[in-house]
Amino acid sequence: MAIAPTFDIQLTEADLREQLRTDVLWGLSSRRKWLPSKWFYDARGSKLFDLITGLPEYYPARTERALLHGCADEIARQASGATELVELGSGSPEKTRLLLNALSAHGSLCSYVPQDVSESALRAAADWASDEFPYLSIHGIVSDFTTMLRALPHGGRRLVALLGGTLGNLAPFDRTAFLGELHRVLTPGEQVLVGVGLVTDPAVMIPAYDDAAGVTAEFNRNVLHVLNDRLGADFDPLGFEHFAVWDPDLEWVEMRLAATKPMRVTVPDLDLVADFAAGEQIRTEISAKFRLPALRNELAAAGFRTRRAWADPDHRFALVLADR
Ligand code: AVJ
Repeated sequence: MAIAPTFDIQLTEADLREQLRTDVLWGLSSRRKWLPSKWFYDARGSKLFDLITGLPEYYPARTERALLHGCADEIARQASGATELVELGSGSPEKTRLLLNALSAHGSLCSYVPQDVSESALRAAADWASDEFPYLSIHGIVSDFTTMLRALPHGGRRLVALLGGTLGNLAPFDRTAFLGELHRVLTPGEQVLVGVGLVTDPAVMIPAYDDAAGVTAEFNRNVLHVLNDRLGADFDPLGFEHFAVWDPDLEWVEMRLAATKPMRVTVPDLDLVADFAAGEQIRTEISAKFRLPALRNELAAAGFRTRRAWADPDHRFALVLADR
């Protein structure tokens, strides 16, 4: 019989609301409107993202899965001292199964610590993991990994995984801050594993963020539903059109929502009125793609030594294991 997972809610509903208020106030009163991508992930957004991972156009998820299939054992060998797998932004943890299997087989793993900003996704992840891995102790953390790394549990030797390309959702400045902070909270001998999308053909990258079935469009518009639900905003989500754009200079995919007509949106909780001209856009996500040598340098600048990297044969996605 599995031991029931435990949870540490480091971010309450009230904290989340306060952060959302600040982000929306900044983002929607800015001359070029934007919203942070973490607000996609309420229960509905997390479900839509799960659907995205099964779409034919969305190669990152299945490429990472295939990579893990091929190299989980090697990762486990190279991380053989790890007693704890901490998974940041875990979302749905199915991709982690291979890693948990391999790390368990190599002997030292005792616990799995999934972390996510979405409590509903986190509870589902922890329950799933405790059924599948009854011999592991499972401890779920609701927090924001960009600002709350210090509050991660320690004890044991940690392997911190940030999979799925999530590192690419941070702007370069935030990414540097995140990697630096991660280095500060880890101790020598601990490790990180990051899964990142690689720069590849825009004809491959763009459809991954603009699928034919329109699931990503609905995922993108979900952030407007979140603002309506949580802040009482009066967005008409269907009045916004979904776009995915590859920026060749910054080497990231941007998701945007464009107003199809002039609209006035009010957010009563914030005393905010946001006017949209026809065609005016909100940037809702950046998803940076990487080149391995530059990523190695970024990790090194934060103090991490890359131990090994694995890429798929088409060089669309990579896993990088680095030592603190
Ligand atoms: C897995 C969260 C990194 O940027 O590829 C999927 C999110 N956005 N489709 C990504 C996402 C649009 C995804 N992350």
